[in-house]
Amino acid sequence: MTAPGGAEQGSTGTADARHLFRGRTAVITGASSGIGAGFARHAAALGMRLVPTDVAADRLAALAEELAAGGAEVEPVPADVTDPAAVEAVAVRADERFGGADMLVNNAGIMAMGYSWEIPAETWDAALRINVGGTANGLRAFVPRMLDRGTRAWIVDVSSVGGLLPAPLMAPYSATKFAVLALTESLKYELDMRGAPIQVSVVTPGSVKSDIFRAASGAAGAAPEAERFGALLHERAENSGLTAEEHARRVFDQVAEGRYWVVPQPEQLDPGLQPRTDMILERAEPRLPFEI
Ligand SMILES: NC(=O)c1ccc[n+]([C@@H]2O[C@H](COP(=O)([O-])OP(=O)(O)OC[C@H]3O[C@@H](n4cnc5c(N)ncnc54)[C@H](O)[C@@H]3O)[C@@H](O)[C@H]2O)c1
Repeated sequence: MTAPGGAEQGSTGTADARHLFRGRTAVITGASSGIGAGFARHAAALGMRLVPTDVAADRLAALAEELAAGGAEVEPVPADVTDPAAVEAVAVRADERFGGADMLVNNAGIMAMGYSWEIPAETWDAALRINVGGTANGLRAFVPRMLDRGTRAWIVDVSSVGGLLPAPLMAPYSATKFAVLALTESLKYELDMRGAPIQVSVVTPGSVKSDIFRAASGAAGAAPEAERFGALLHERAENSGLTAEEHARRVFDQVAEGRYWVVPQPEQLDPGLQPRTDMILERAEPRLPFEI
């Protein structure tokens, strides 16, 4: 079966990703840490030209230096994804340096832990503005340029297993990752309506080694249960999560296969999906499927 974007489903491995993406330009948000840094390193290894961006300018400069030392063509642009003008400036730099972006990876995101009614308004606001607003700002800056160029392009939005299976003590995260799934699906319908040669993919990572859980549960005033759950998630990622590099390899391979649903760890998503679907169809009450 031929997927939108033209790739044969189920036919590939990293060699195909290299063949498809070499020489193309990727913009990656939240690129200076964890999953985003893994994406940037893997994209460089595939021979892509890179416009990594992040709000953490020092870490971004260090990553760009590392990638350039390895022979990659890199144009780092510090930007806060919540600022539409800053994201637009990233697109302008990608145009100037590389003639435009072929791929946008909307990866920047934060997690916040606590009881939904105790999480401060500013934290709720930050999660909505970064996880959802940041993704929308990326689309607003890059999709019109991709449509104008009319060449093959890729939009890759990073949601989460938590974007399909809500969890307690992380409501801003679950809510915003659900929103990323919904807005990505809307985008897919819209680009299909326009017959655009832009492949849309949504990534649902499971547990991947990064600092996201520790940063989320370290917030002052968080309930002890939230601290405990955050520590547990962090420990699980450290002990049995994927490295960001292996995660990136799986994601780029699946994107190269033309997949909309990019599921790097199906074993962490699939067992929860059917019970959740059954629960809704049976109009049953949600019940916590594990203890905290
Ligand atoms: N690590 C996991 O297990 C996991 C699982 C599912 C989904 N995810 C998703 O993967 C993405 C990356 O997470 P991670 O685990 O690598 O976390 P991380 O904290 O290591 O990296 C997130 C990056 O985003 C950047 N960022 C934060 N706010 C920003 C802003 N306003 N503008 C620009 N950049 C900003 C940070 O500086 C950081 O470099 C997130 O969207 C996260 O929700 C992670």
